[in-house]
Amino acid sequence: MKIVLAYSGGLDTSVALKWLKDKYKAKVITYTATIGDEINKSEIEKKAKSTGAFKVYVEDLKKEFANEFIAPTLKAGALYEGKYPLATALSRPLIASGLVEIARKEKADAVAHGCTGKGNDQVRFELTIFSFAPNLKIIAPLREWELKSREEEIEYAKKHHIPVSTTKKSPYSIDKNIWGTSIECGVLEDPDQEPPEDAWDKTNPIDKTPDKPQYIKIYFENGIPKKLDGNKYELSALIVELNSIGAKHGIGRIDMVEDRLVGIKSRELYEAPAAVMLHKALGEIENLTLDRETTHFKEVISSKYAQLVYYGLWYSDLKEALDSFLEKIHENTTGEVTLKLHKANCIVVGRNSPNSLYNTKMATYSPEDIFNHQSAKGFIELFGLPQKIQALKILEKQKKKK
Ligand code: ARG
Repeated sequence: MKIVLAYSGGLDTSVALKWLKDKYKAKVITYTATIGDEINKSEIEKKAKSTGAFKVYVEDLKKEFANEFIAPTLKAGALYEGKYPLATALSRPLIASGLVEIARKEKADAVAHGCTGKGNDQVRFELTIFSFAPNLKIIAPLREWELKSREEEIEYAKKHHIPVSTTKKSPYSIDKNIWGTSIECGVLEDPDQEPPEDAWDKTNPIDKTPDKPQYIKIYFENGIPKKLDGNKYELSALIVELNSIGAKHGIGRIDMVEDRLVGIKSRELYEAPAAVMLHKALGEIENLTLDRETTHFKEVISSKYAQLVYYGLWYSDLKEALDSFLEKIHENTTGEVTLKLHKANCIVVGRNSPNSLYNTKMATYSPEDIFNHQSAKGFIELFGLPQKIQALKILEKQKKKK
């Protein structure tokens, strides 16, 4: 039997590798998609091999992740429950589709993942696998084995000489890529307790941020960030750069209680400097270029899009249809935004666009004003007519009572 395992090199997937090998007497092929900025390919290869992998695949997919997953989600303004930029959620369909590809290539009998039975990620993995290979067998060791805790997994690893990270054991569960870091478990499980400073990954605490504000300019073309301070960037590189600038100023910390797909509320920390800055900046260009009704309708789309991504419905008809809608409405989202970064604040201080619908002569209160003030009277008369009719009715009833 041949199984392709989505492998991160962490404790869960390392133990899963050995467990699958023993339980199914299988040849286990590992598949790792690197979408973070600090993953070491040769280290992963070495680790997988020494844990008993039959064959090892490591693919750098940062560019695909940025262009095909982050960009559309940014254009959608998608933040789950208004806050979470969806870094982990977005990575799953990408990894799962790679997994299916390798399974095909290797003529494997099954694929496997290291997700737990109470999280969202198992859903995202498996829905993607259903979309591409509806008959492929899926094995989720963490839902099957008898190991009940992290401690038992560590015991198992020791017993079977599985190399697990020897660095100080983090009390948190962390998932990381260029769009953001997700942090949970440990003391964070008490939603009323302030996160200890060591829970955060890269962002500076406010008291360690620079005293002077930093100004940056982000230029967008059709809703895609293209330049930082006038310099052209490939999207994934721009995101990495913004993460480092934002982290220095303590920007991008998110502390929230969210509603998981499986019905549980969970407290999660996210660290996503680039995502926070880019969502904010893009929204400012839209405020200049979209007409009022589209702006308001987009709010509905943003929230729906975020739910679809969170639920693992990346490869769904509705998501695809919304992408076409977004493509259309971003035809004019070109322009530059100036952000002032200071003490964990990302403040928009300027925006411009060649497609701006902002009309100074209409907006001004100066003598240049061209707005016809008289026209407002008739507009209000008709716009407010339902109000007037209702109030008249109430008066009429009151009179009758007397
Ligand atoms: N709650 C987030 C989501 O469902 C992150 C899940 C992974 N988090 C983690 N700390 N390992 O997208």
